[in-house]
Amino acid sequence: MKTIAIATLIALSSLTALPALAQTAAPAGSSMPAKNDALFQALGGKPGLQALMDVFVAGLKADKRIGVQFKDTKAAYLSEQLVDQVCAATGGPCKYEGADMKTAHADMGITKSNFHALVEVLQVSMDSRNIPFATQNQLLALLAPMHRDIITAN
Ligand code: HEM
Repeated sequence: MKTIAIATLIALSSLTALPALAQTAAPAGSSMPAKNDALFQALGGKPGLQALMDVFVAGLKADKRIGVQFKDTKAAYLSEQLVDQVCAATGGPCKYEGADMKTAHADMGITKSNFHALVEVLQVSMDSRNIPFATQNQLLALLAPMHRDIITAN
């Protein structure tokens, strides 16, 4: 089975930094630290992320389990926020200016199963974009710790 269980994700989330996501050393002669954008590049850069998030948001809206939670969401807006958020988090040249995850999801009553369903939709979306499994897991490991701010209900 190619899916990664939510328990694994939550276990992974106790890791503070994965080696692949850690910043590389500054290049010789430079006073600026080099940014490790390997994951951003593996996701296809900004065009890759845009295509992925469009598929992902469409998948969320269509999902039988959690689609209702996105019924009033403007797809283009959420997709854009996700592109900026993931681009910035994976070392890409973007700035995320949306709400922090706690504020954005407050009062939504999001459960662990809701979170798990969203992760599954993301996995299916990444499969449909032919994103390699190792890259998928790196992105999921980056997002997993956010469950602490997003899940607010049993
Ligand atoms: C790691 C998991 C998640 C990430 C990275 C994430 C990310 C985001 C981002 C970036 C926004 C936009 C915030 C803004 O507009 O300022 C957002 C909004 C939202 N999220 Fe999440 N989210 C996650 C999980 C979930 C889950 C599990 C649900 C419910 C099943 C959910 C439901 C929503 C809804 C309904 C909105 C508002 C969209 C709108 O109408 O504008 N999110 N999320």
